Amino acid sequence: MKLTAKTADKHVLYQKSVQSPEAEVDFFTRIYKKRYGKLPTRFREDFCGTALISCDWVRRKKDNHAYGVDLHQPTLDWGRRHNLSRLTESVRERVHLVQDNVLHVTEPKVHVVGAFNFSYFIFKELRELEAYFKTVRRSLAPEGLFVLDAYGGYEAQQEMEEETTHNGFTYVWDQAKYNPINDHTVCHIHFKFPDGSMLKRAFTYDWRLWTLGGIQDALIGAGFGATEVYWEGSDKDGDGNGVYRKCKKAENTPGWNAYIIGLP
Ligand SMILES: C[S@@+](CC[C@H](N)C(=O)[O-])C[C@H]1O[C@@H](n2cnc3c(N)ncnc32)[C@H](O)[C@@H]1O
Repeated sequence: MKLTAKTADKHVLYQKSVQSPEAEVDFFTRIYKKRYGKLPTRFREDFCGTALISCDWVRRKKDNHAYGVDLHQPTLDWGRRHNLSRLTESVRERVHLVQDNVLHVTEPKVHVVGAFNFSYFIFKELRELEAYFKTVRRSLAPEGLFVLDAYGGYEAQQEMEEETTHNGFTYVWDQAKYNPINDHTVCHIHFKFPDGSMLKRAFTYDWRLWTLGGIQDALIGAGFGATEVYWEGSDKDGDGNGVYRKCKKAENTPGWNAYIIGLP
């Protein structure tokens, strides 16, 4: 069946367009193993939305548990119906969905907390960001790791739209507003369909474009002992290649992606 604005499910399109659960899990598993010489088992997915990463996590090993935290009950319910339902019962039992504010959850203690797709950018004030990072710090086991992602570069400060074609639909990333005085930005995701219909503003983000320097300062301010930045490499056309390496310096490219690690 051809997708149209009427028949499409925005969460399905979102997951296809912007989520790569296997890559996220591979990344933090590699970093954790390198640091602590063993594999983590307890993972918390903050701002989990439909809990796609949590589902990948519990599939990998029998003793893996995932704790997915999100404020929005309808999105968690969608994740339960469409993602958790694909797991066998014994695997599904190890995904624990929590409807709560990430500022309030510190139990159980976990080996890894992840905040992906820049969700923590909703904390626009430094004291809010530090309060969130303190909550994460308190949630970590002694051998723990906090992993966040970030995007930036001068193109991220421009008002522009970028289209990516997928099978049956087009994903549109719309950087609608950027205020250089305080780095606040409003971005939308739209989806376009072959029949000309459109899901306009399927998702809207009103957040602050934090810099890597600011994020690392906030982590240290919140009590983390050290931070590391893993910078994405590029292919011969200058596009991101999905390979992240620990860096102290990087080229000031127009647009970039990175992971930040907070260590206790
Ligand atoms: C950008 S989506 C991220 C979805 C998914 N984690 C991903 O990687 O694509 C942001 C999610 O954060 C949730 N959210 C926003 N503020 C929150 C808060 N203070 N505590 C918990 N969840 C929150 C929203 O309900 C939404 O599902």
